[in-house]
Amino acid sequence: MTASVSVLGIFAVDLIFRSDRLPVTGETLIGNSFATGPGGKGSNQAIAARRSGAEVVLLTKLGADDFGDMGRRLYEAEGISSDFLLTHPEVANAAAVIMVNEQTGNNAIIVVPGAAGTITPDEVRSAAAGIANSQAFLTNLEVPLDAMQAGLETARQHKVATLLNPAPATSLEAAIYPLCDYLTPNETEAEILTGLEVQTVTQAAAAAEKLRELGTETVIITLGENGVYVCNAEVSEHVPTFDMGDRVVDTTGAGDAFNGAFATALAEGQALRDAIRFGNAAAALSVTQHGSAPSMPHTAQIRELLGR
Ligand code: RIB
Repeated sequence: MTASVSVLGIFAVDLIFRSDRLPVTGETLIGNSFATGPGGKGSNQAIAARRSGAEVVLLTKLGADDFGDMGRRLYEAEGISSDFLLTHPEVANAAAVIMVNEQTGNNAIIVVPGAAGTITPDEVRSAAAGIANSQAFLTNLEVPLDAMQAGLETARQHKVATLLNPAPATSLEAAIYPLCDYLTPNETEAEILTGLEVQTVTQAAAAAEKLRELGTETVIITLGENGVYVCNAEVSEHVPTFDMGDRVVDTTGAGDAFNGAFATALAEGQALRDAIRFGNAAAALSVTQHGSAPSMPHTAQIRELLGR
């Protein structure tokens, strides 16, 4: 049986500006290049899950406009189920401005969820069949928080593993933590959720422990080039990632690559540490390519990096 992953999130068109550094407030900077491409965390995660080997169902709401059409074409090309794609007749599709520092590959993003920002809990519950048929359900915080919670509850009711990538960072209601089998913040998100500083592996361990105390079974704090820190009842350890050296060109979507591929690995039944390494390899490969969705690697590339 092929592994199946369901994802609740947004599709955004990314407007990507590359420059030698990021501008400061009030500054106009001449950039080096501009491109548009498919993005949105949920959509990127869905593509990462699909390319890394899973059947994927995406729950989202698109605009009835050119950007929304780009999403529809993308899912057809990628082989992602469109059974649970909604359309808002009036609200524009999501869009994001991404500024990439060409010296470091780091970025700053503003995203407007648009049509996908109107997804309701009832609409999510109406997609229960799509969630119930998967082995892993993945969502994040670009959709309305009540819809995100409805997704986690629906997955729980159907005994589907629940993964929450708490991005973009915001504080969460206490009721959310026990609904998450896996919580995957990055350092900044972990700091906002816990109020603790998360700059080092030791600090990540303390933050992960605090998040577990709030009721999440397994906490995985992603630490960029330093890999991840994972903590649950059985393990508490730092898992390093792959050093891509000077091949790093754009870190946009690296977290999405990790989450999507990690969800695939869990849906396949891989052991936790193997699933983390699978996610780490996907994220490491993604930063060697420009853009967000286009940088998501395929299974063969991930396996090749793992086997090296
Ligand atoms: O995680 C990267 C994504 O965040 C971008 O594709 C952008 O659309 C924002 O949603």
